[in-house]
Amino acid sequence: MRIGVLRERYPSERRVAVVPNHVELYRKLGHEVLLETGAGEGAFFPDNAYTEAGAQVLPSHEAVIDQADLILAVRTGGANPLLFPNDLSLLREGQILIGFMEPLYRPQYMAQLAERGVTAFAMELIPRITRAQNMDALSSMATVAGYKAVLLAGSLLPSMFPLLMTAAGTISPARVFVIGAGVAGLQAMATAKRLGASVEGYDVRPATRDQVESVGAKFIEISLEVEQAEASGGYARALEEETLQRQQQLLGEHLIRQEVIITTAAVPGKRAPLLIPQSVVEQMRPGTVIIDLTAEYGGNCELTPSDPDQSERIFGLPVRYHRNVIIVGAMNLPATVPTDASLLYSRNLYNLVAHLSKVNMFTSPDPNHEDPIARETLVTFGGQVVNERVRSALN
Ligand code: NAI
Repeated sequence: MRIGVLRERYPSERRVAVVPNHVELYRKLGHEVLLETGAGEGAFFPDNAYTEAGAQVLPSHEAVIDQADLILAVRTGGANPLLFPNDLSLLREGQILIGFMEPLYRPQYMAQLAERGVTAFAMELIPRITRAQNMDALSSMATVAGYKAVLLAGSLLPSMFPLLMTAAGTISPARVFVIGAGVAGLQAMATAKRLGASVEGYDVRPATRDQVESVGAKFIEISLEVEQAEASGGYARALEEETLQRQQQLLGEHLIRQEVIITTAAVPGKRAPLLIPQSVVEQMRPGTVIIDLTAEYGGNCELTPSDPDQSERIFGLPVRYHRNVIIVGAMNLPATVPTDASLLYSRNLYNLVAHLSKVNMFTSPDPNHEDPIARETLVTFGGQVVNERVRSALN
């Protein structure tokens, strides 16, 4: 197949779907790699690194889409809602598209891809099973985001993270609280701990206690008396409104004592749960920093800014200052660590492409394939949205 790699168009996106080192892997599978000129530049991979690895560099976006059988992207479909319609008009029937595309959060774009006859596989739908770990790009990107969230917080906090005993006095460690102990949250806890902060973590799934403690953080227990907080694959279920309100109240007492709050609480395909209302922000200490990783999904904090065009920015990210509390809508953080994020993403993508080839999903896509990775990632085929989860999101 001819594999096309596009220069990403999403504002501030700097990652690339294939890094030069992985071109050879695709060639060994018998594929050709076509790259839009400049596609790797944002991640510091120049065109010549790709040509040396055996890829062909094409002069335009249109040329790559025109010549490729399979297009690999970082953000496409609903993950690049403003600019995707242009790509959509260039795609043709039978072409294959793989990337992040927000199939559950913005399923309407999947319907458009189906109408166009494109066969689309969504990176967000890779099941969280052991066999698919090396393809799980949501996890690898969340790892990068959790790490970077802490660095951002450290840069904005008016205090230092570690305990320091100096001749001029003692500085106590910063108090960092992380909400949501999934992939991003655990990495944030581990990073803050390594910087010397005093770290606490909380998650609605009690099973995360051991993981929180294993990265050196203290688990905060809040009793919500929810019978089943856990869904499959280490994801949470959405809470009922009444429970969510109780959670807000109990969390509030804890939140107002913190200096840094990193929020990562999420349920796939749903708006992020609102855990920090304005009234709690208004009781926080002056100088408190909130880094909200769920800004793209509505935010865990009521005051999280999510439109970079409508708000002030710091480090290119939307920020709001409310009564001396700094709230950052930390969107698309992996793009701010573009080299390593691209390396990880490119490897995840290659592993998925190799797997889908092996189970013949490119030659004969099968929505009922016995292989769960193939079946669950396939979103559109033969003019239809074939994925059950996406179909119910559409309804
Ligand atoms: P994950 O699903 O591994 O973790 C989310 C955690 O939130 C789960 O452990 C879940 O139990 C917990 N949770 C759900 N509802 C909760 C509630 N009401 N109270 C407390 N905890 C609750 O997800 P992951 O991969 O860690 O990502 C977290 C969030 O960060 C997602 O919204 C993801 O889209 C976002 N993200 C943001 C990035 C950025 O650059 N801003 C990059 C990568 C991920």
